[in-house]
Amino acid sequence: MCGIVGYVGSRDATPLLVSGLRRLEYRGYDSAGVAVQEDGQLEVRRAEGKLDNLVQVIAQKPVSGTSGIGHTRWATHGRPSEHNAHPHVDCGAVTAVIHNGIIENFEELKVPLLRAGHRFTSETDTEVVVHMLEDELKQGRSLEEAALRVVPRLEGAAALAFVSAKDPGKIVAARVSNAGGVIVGYGKGENHLASDIPALLEHTRTVSFVEPGEFAVITANEVRFLGRDGRPVEKSRTTITWDPVTAAKAGYKHFMLKEIHEQPRVLSDTLLGRVDRGSGRVIFDEDVRIADEQVRRLQRITLLGCGTAGYAALAGKYLIERLARIPCDVEIPSEYRYRDPVVTQDQLVVALTQSGETVDTLAAIDEARKGGARVLAIVNAMGSQASRVADDVIYLHAGPEISVASTKAYTTMLADLYLLAVFLGQRRGTFDQGAAGKLLAELFHLPTLVDAVLAEEPKVKALAYRYHQSKDFLYLGRGINYPTALEGAHKLKELSYSHAEGAAAGEMKHGINALIDESLPVVAIALQDGTYRKMVSNIQEVRARAGTVIALANDDDEDIGQHASDVIRIPRTNDLLSPILAVVPLHLFAYHVADRRGNDVDQPRNLAKAVTVE
Ligand code: F6R
Repeated sequence: MCGIVGYVGSRDATPLLVSGLRRLEYRGYDSAGVAVQEDGQLEVRRAEGKLDNLVQVIAQKPVSGTSGIGHTRWATHGRPSEHNAHPHVDCGAVTAVIHNGIIENFEELKVPLLRAGHRFTSETDTEVVVHMLEDELKQGRSLEEAALRVVPRLEGAAALAFVSAKDPGKIVAARVSNAGGVIVGYGKGENHLASDIPALLEHTRTVSFVEPGEFAVITANEVRFLGRDGRPVEKSRTTITWDPVTAAKAGYKHFMLKEIHEQPRVLSDTLLGRVDRGSGRVIFDEDVRIADEQVRRLQRITLLGCGTAGYAALAGKYLIERLARIPCDVEIPSEYRYRDPVVTQDQLVVALTQSGETVDTLAAIDEARKGGARVLAIVNAMGSQASRVADDVIYLHAGPEISVASTKAYTTMLADLYLLAVFLGQRRGTFDQGAAGKLLAELFHLPTLVDAVLAEEPKVKALAYRYHQSKDFLYLGRGINYPTALEGAHKLKELSYSHAEGAAAGEMKHGINALIDESLPVVAIALQDGTYRKMVSNIQEVRARAGTVIALANDDDEDIGQHASDVIRIPRTNDLLSPILAVVPLHLFAYHVADRRGNDVDQPRNLAKAVTVE
C-alpha cells in the first residue's frame, strides 16, 4: 500500500506535495519521492526511508515548479532503496510515473521493452509503465492518449499518476482495479490528486472519486474524466465533512476498525499474482528460493510466532499437514530459543511475524539457522530484520498495520499459509491439479465473503454491547478453528482487559467445565464441517450447566438457534478457509466490547506494536 499525491496550479508544488505525503505516510515509509516540472524540465528527488529523508534531500538540492507528483512507498517488488523509490522516469527522464498496487504481468511487458533498448534502473514492477509511455509519447500522442493505450495492458491492481515534460502542466491519473484510491480535489485555479482524503483536506473539501477503469486528466483550470474507451465520463462532486483526525482513519473511529474493514482489499493484494496462469501452480515472489527438490525432501516443518502470529502458526499446522502431508510442530519462540531444540537440515522453519522485528521470533530464527534448518519468514514489513535474515520470504502485502491489536495481518497470514500449503502439496504431489484448482478458486473468492461478514457488523456490535460487562469469557473451537478460539480470546483480553480463555472444546471435560456458570458467556465456533456434531454436544454441555452460549455458525444452519442464546452467522466456505471468515466477527466483537468500555482501542494498556525487547 503506497500513497500518491499530485498538484497542478500556480503555487510552488514541492511543499504542497511533501505536506500531502506527510498525511499519507501511514500507507508506507520505505521511501518517498517527488517529480516536479521546472522550466520545461522534469526534476526528480527521491530518498530511502521516511519522508524526513526526502525533506533533507530537497533541502540540499531544492526543486520548484507549479506541477508535480509525489509518492510514499510500501515496498512490494524490489526492496526499499533509493533506486526503487518512485517516481520512476523513462530513458530520457522526461516522463515520470507513481504507482500504488502491483502490476502482475510486468515481467511479460518488460521483455519487448528491454529488447527495444529501454534502460531499467529499478527492480520494481512499476518502471515498465513509464517506458511504455515513452514509446507512445514518441509517436506525438498527448499524455492522456498515451495513458489510454498503456494502462489497459496492465494486469493486477494499480492506481497510477503520470507527468511529462512533453505535455507540461498536466497530470494524468488512472485506476486499474479496486485496489488503491484515486481522488481528485478541486481548488481555485489549481487542482489536486491523492490516494486518500487526508492528503487533500488542507486544500479542499470538494472531491471526485476515480472509479476502476477510469482516467482523470488534471490541469490547473480543468479536470476531465475518461472511460477505458477514452470517452468523457460525467462525474459528481462530493463535499467531505471530516476533521483531520477522522480523515487519517478514513472516517473510522479507530485504526483497528479501519484495518478490519480493509481486509477484503488487502486479502486481494495478498493473493494477487500468486498463481501461475499457465500451470495453475502457486508461485511466490523471487524472495522464495527453496528448490522443488528440497521441498520433496522435507521431513518436518516447525512453525513459530508470538501472540496472534503464534495462533496463525497453529492454523498453519492444520493446513500444511492436511494439504501437503508434512508433519508440523508449532513453537513459542521465547521457549524455542532457550530450549536447545533439535534442528535438522531436512526441516523447514516457518517464522510468522507482522513487524519482522519481534525479538524472540528473531532469536528463534537464529537458533534454527544455527542448527542448519532452512528458514522461511512470513512477514508484513518489507526490509524488516526477519525478512533480511530468512532464506525465503513471503510477504503479507497487508499494508501498514497501525493498531496494536493485529487483525488484517492475521487473516493475510492465514491466506499466505494456505497458499504455502498448496505450494508444498503441488510440489510433493499430494493432490492433483483439479483439486488444486478448486482449493485456489475458493481462496480467491474469500475477499467477497469477508465483505459479506463485515456487513453483519451491526449485529456483532449489538451483542458486544449486551455482553460488555462480563468479567470472564470462554471461547471454544475444534479442528482448524481451535486456533480461531485462541485468537478470539486473545483479542478480547488485550482490548477489553477482561479475562478470556480459548480452548479446544474436546478439553472441556478435563477441567474447563468447572468454570461454567450463568455468568460466563461462552463463544462456541460451530461451523458445518467435520467437527459440527461434536461442537453441538459441547454447546449442550455448557447449556446444561447454565452457561450462556454465543454460537458462531454458518448462514444455512437452521438448527443452531435452538442450542444457543445468540448466533453470529458467516457464509460457508471450504473448512480450511473458514478461520479467515470466523475470526472477523470475533475481532469486531472484541473491538466493540473495548470501545463500549471506553478503552484505548488502538493502544491497549501495557502493550506495544513491535516487541523488540524480551
Ligand atoms: C495481538 C498482537 C500480538 C502480536 C505479537 C507478534 O493482537 O498484535 O500478539 O501478534 O506481538 O507480533 P509480530 O507479528 O509483529 O511478530
